[in-house]
Amino acid sequence: MGHVAVVGVGITRFGRRSDTTLQELASEAGRMALSDAGLDPEDVEFLAVGSMGGWSSESLPAVVVSEYLGLERAGSMRVEAACASGSAAVKVAADVVAAGGADVAMAIGVERMYESPIPNVVEYLGRAGNYFWEFENFGLTFPGYYAMYATAYMNKYGATEEDLSEISVKNHYYGSLNPYAQFREPVKIEDVMRSRYVAWPLRLLHCSPISDGSAAVVLVSERVARSLTDSPTWIRAIGSATGPSSITRRDDFLGFLAVRRAAEEAYRRAGIDPARPLRQVDAALVHDCFTIAEIIAYEDLGFARRGEGFMLAKERQTYIGGLVPVNIDGGLKAKGHPIGATGVAMAVEAVKQLRREADPGRQADIKNGVVIAHNVGGTGHYAYVTVYSM
Ligand code: COA
Repeated sequence: MGHVAVVGVGITRFGRRSDTTLQELASEAGRMALSDAGLDPEDVEFLAVGSMGGWSSESLPAVVVSEYLGLERAGSMRVEAACASGSAAVKVAADVVAAGGADVAMAIGVERMYESPIPNVVEYLGRAGNYFWEFENFGLTFPGYYAMYATAYMNKYGATEEDLSEISVKNHYYGSLNPYAQFREPVKIEDVMRSRYVAWPLRLLHCSPISDGSAAVVLVSERVARSLTDSPTWIRAIGSATGPSSITRRDDFLGFLAVRRAAEEAYRRAGIDPARPLRQVDAALVHDCFTIAEIIAYEDLGFARRGEGFMLAKERQTYIGGLVPVNIDGGLKAKGHPIGATGVAMAVEAVKQLRREADPGRQADIKNGVVIAHNVGGTGHYAYVTVYSM
């Protein structure tokens, strides 16, 4: 299998984007990525579109995006892995290039969630678990699912609502420095603790929002990468795994087995020591759909021991200058979470960090040249861990 490089990245502002259609939004990111790569639409041989999409009117997003961007020569498909659809699209496009099926491929994530009323969006997301046993009979929605993880974690390890709130404060702080973020205002612990409960113990400011947005990357073979640039970003490894549909089949609500399996695979392929990943990792983008999810990610990725992830938040070790900067683009919490775009947006941010092109105040110190993206679909149903390197 060949090496795969990311040579172009593009992203739109996340938030309410009623000024665009789905294809316009995706094209905004797609054109930016192609121009960053110095390539034309005719160069693209394959397109994977990450989109969950049940809330928006277009049911064939890959076709309308392809047409609007002028990529009709390229084969295309929509890729769905719930909130990890973007990372799944990156994997599909990268695998096509690695297998020699294309020299130039694109992964574009796009979502227009605001096309539907928010209660419908919350319902559609809530059905992304085990529909019959969890949604139909018990009405579980995403804030409810993650509230169960939060209460189990707080009960077992003694973490508090304030500890969870630290994640929100950090991510809103970095979101305030990111011109593409949905929320640009920093928040204090008091603001988080004053916000209304959505599903106890998770408050509004513990939740990622509903978002529209798109992100795009251009992936190429090593041969093309060397012809375009002296300093490509490489996809060093992708690990992926799938969890059981029903949460009754989980051992506990303290971590995600599928994520641990995906991380194990990614670390093995990338040559990262799973016992001490932070010796080799400069920064991480993790799936903070709810604040508890970021704390669990620290543990599932081996950044902290079991039960100690919340201490990293409490001690502010995941800011720039701490043990490992995490979500210094604002994360899902403040940057926004247009479901299918999120994993591609993580790729965009990883590349910007590795190229040292992040906005002032949110550039990590790149010493090892490695950034990790952790993207979870559902409550640990799909897990993707991607290692980007210089
Ligand atoms: N964080 C901060 N502010 C938020 C917010 C969030 N997550 N969600 C909404 N707001 C703000 C809005 O900007 C708005 O502010 P304004 O009055 O100043 O304009 C206000 O809160 C009300 O917004 P509204 O859209 O009416 O909120 P809502 O109550 O309908 O929805 C949630 C709030 C938390 C239910 C919704 O954002 C949600 O379901 N989030 C989770 C999404 C999810 O599950 N994603 C998949 C996870 S893997």
